[in-house]
Amino acid sequence: MSGAMELTLVMVKPDAMQRRLLGTILRRLEQKGLVMVAGDLRQLSRDTAARHYAAHQGKYFYDRLMKFITSGPVFVSVWRGPQAIQRVRTLVGATSPEKAQPGTIRGDFALHITQNLVHASDSPASASREIAIFFPDNAFFDITAVDADLLSPPD
Ligand code: PPS
Repeated sequence: MSGAMELTLVMVKPDAMQRRLLGTILRRLEQKGLVMVAGDLRQLSRDTAARHYAAHQGKYFYDRLMKFITSGPVFVSVWRGPQAIQRVRTLVGATSPEKAQPGTIRGDFALHITQNLVHASDSPASASREIAIFFPDNAFFDITAVDADLLSPPD
């Protein structure tokens, strides 16, 4: 069973943009069979970044995180697929660089807990909240993968 269709938010962070890793990161999600249904290159304002990272306000790393995420353009995107939220998290790898396994995006390309290339929603509630921040119009493209039947066969 491949699981319920979900939407999830993926943000490719300024370090990945500066290292020209956008294509590599998007490619991994595409290769898995997930479909990008919205995407945009943006410079985040402090206000938008604060909304996105509201849960971390007051933590010791918050100021560093705010400074980093507003330091350059990010690529924000919405991806659709069966159990997309957990599957993207698995492809991204653990937040901590020592725990991110080889084969994951962070495990293969990141060394730091702040400069860790990519953010992905961690739960259905987070996905809904984060998607509403960046794509409030819910204007998603309706793309049918040519191999949709093979990647996600009906149960
Ligand atoms: S926590 O502390 O358990 O809530 O951490 P987590 O939910 O995994 O993600 C925290 C996000 O903040 C970024 N960040 C750090 N986290 C922990 N410690 C330090 N020092 C730190 N510095 C930055 C981390 O990259 C996570 O970013 P996102 O974009 O959510 O992956």
